[in-house]
Amino acid sequence: MTDAKNEILRVEGLKKYFGSSGAVLHAVDDVNFSINEGATLGVVGESGCGKSTMGRTILRLHEPTEGKVFFKGENIVDYDKKQMKALRKEMQIIFQDPFASLNPRMSISETIIEPLIIQGVYDKKDKAGLQKRVRELMDLVGLAERLINTYPHELDGGRRQRIGIARALALNPKFIVCDEPVSALDVSIQAQILNLMQDLQDELGLTYMFITHDLSVVKHFANDIAVMYLGQLVEKAPAELLFKNPLHPYTKALLSAIPVPDPDYKMERILLQGEITSPINPEPGCRFAKRCPLATAECSGQDLVLREVEPEHFVTCRLVQ
Ligand SMILES: Nc1ncnc2c1ncn2[C@@H]1O[C@H](COP(=O)(O)OP(=O)(O)O)[C@@H](O)[C@H]1O
Ligand SMILES: [Mg+2]
Repeated sequence: MTDAKNEILRVEGLKKYFGSSGAVLHAVDDVNFSINEGATLGVVGESGCGKSTMGRTILRLHEPTEGKVFFKGENIVDYDKKQMKALRKEMQIIFQDPFASLNPRMSISETIIEPLIIQGVYDKKDKAGLQKRVRELMDLVGLAERLINTYPHELDGGRRQRIGIARALALNPKFIVCDEPVSALDVSIQAQILNLMQDLQDELGLTYMFITHDLSVVKHFANDIAVMYLGQLVEKAPAELLFKNPLHPYTKALLSAIPVPDPDYKMERILLQGEITSPINPEPGCRFAKRCPLATAECSGQDLVLREVEPEHFVTCRLVQ
């Protein structure tokens, strides 16, 4: 876990809406944050809150509805096709389910070679160069060389995810969106992949945006954690601080759902009641108010932004602010 001070990514007022006239789904709704080079930002929230959409919009796999994404100081939302192609080398994604994201008809070697050829890093005819690079990448992610011509269905989930990681690393990226990369794996394998990703980060100086619905996955991994609720960030803080002093009622509820190993330590489980606000044409105001045990009438009406309430600790809740 490096703690570099240089900002590599800054997201400003990012919005991604789906649909037009009438029903507009606010999947990502005015998100602001930055990540330092070599650091990991954990993004946590329930299924459907907009984590994947946010990750894809940052990479411009979705076109943003509004907002800016600065990568190394440049707003990539303005980039044309040619600039985007060059940027693909630097920004990559690892998906949740490698079985779904890998082409079943492509062997490990073909899967890793593809981006190298698309990007023109190697000539298709340079068989020796490509084979050398494939072996290098397989070694880097802990895949045995004898597997080089096997297909995804012949491998277990952990090995498939190692292929996904090798493919993402093929172009020497700087920044990787990791979209629930261990959520589809057996618990015993999750730790292996997380360790691998941490080692790779240290070795290659990678910056991660690590998306997960499970706070415990990023607890020891992320430098900072951002909590997302219905398209918005509700809290962001260094990981340790977030666990020690959660401030937003939604973060408190999320934390209370994690089993604690110490039997003397009793944290009361907060069960959320009330209806979930619809992401379609949401009313202005706190999106969590309808489920919040502390909400009052003043929580509706006005949208809130993340505000720093103690050093490096940002929260949207007006009762905390
Ligand atoms: N391509 C799309 N078209 C329309 N709605 C979408 C699309 N992708 C995601 N959504 C909607 O956006 C919201 C956020 O989805 P998603 O980003 O996948 O959430 P998460 O990754 O946190 O589970 C959901 O309500 C989902 O149904
Ligand atoms: Mg998702």
